[in-house]
Amino acid sequence: MSTYTITDTKKVTTKRIKDMMLNGEKIAMLTSYDYTMASLVDQAGIDIILVGDSASNVMQGNATTIPITVDDMIVFGRTVARAAKRAMVIVDMPFGSYQGDPIEAQRNAVRIMRETGADGVKLEGGREMRGAIEMILRAGIPVMGHLGLTPQSINKFGTYATRATGDEEALRLLADAQVLDEVGCFALVLEKIPAMLAQRVTDSISIPTIGIGAGAATHGQVLVAHDMLGLNTAFKPKFLRLYNNLGEQIVDSVGNYINDVKRGDFPNENEQY
Ligand code: KIV
Repeated sequence: MSTYTITDTKKVTTKRIKDMMLNGEKIAMLTSYDYTMASLVDQAGIDIILVGDSASNVMQGNATTIPITVDDMIVFGRTVARAAKRAMVIVDMPFGSYQGDPIEAQRNAVRIMRETGADGVKLEGGREMRGAIEMILRAGIPVMGHLGLTPQSINKFGTYATRATGDEEALRLLADAQVLDEVGCFALVLEKIPAMLAQRVTDSISIPTIGIGAGAATHGQVLVAHDMLGLNTAFKPKFLRLYNNLGEQIVDSVGNYINDVKRGDFPNENEQY
């Protein structure tokens, strides 16, 4: 039984996300990549559904987020947008779709919006993405920023360890957050950075911050739904709170089904015509 009661069914917009920040209401965001999961997450009352490029790992079985394409993200995004009645839907721009020519970035963002029906896009990076973000915003597309651990740069970092633990990187991240605020991002994801730094960023910009492994001071939190539901048992970072063990439950249920079929117990006389 859920402990959360939805207070309204009105569609969540960028304005509403800003109002939540101003009113001190925390923003809850989760990933989804398909219709069924997105319907359930939306029904539970989530504020934002992120069609993350973590779909590369979770749905496609890749080791990183590098291989997923715009076409792939459009397939995932479309099914989620179809399911979300209340939640705002944000689709990740995948690796290589926005880091080069800003016009190309705008073209890819327009495709994602037009072909999925999502409400906005998210992209990774700071000041170096200014041109791309400006072009995307010029097309009227809301942009969510993403700083700290940015998995599309894994080959540059060489590790998924906590980012910005030293002064130099922390100051750079703080300045990048200010650029993303200035340029017009409507919200900012802060991934795997020290809680004190996330607090400093949160206090120094005017847009909502949404943390993952960034402590409690951010305006909201995001997790990968498959991780917090226990569907992906191999991934156990310190910041993850497990809300269920669906992976175990699925394996048990499938085992029970196999057993019933093997011993001729399924179907019984009430399960046939
Ligand atoms: O791709 C993703 O799921 C993300 C979240 C972890 C923020 O970017």
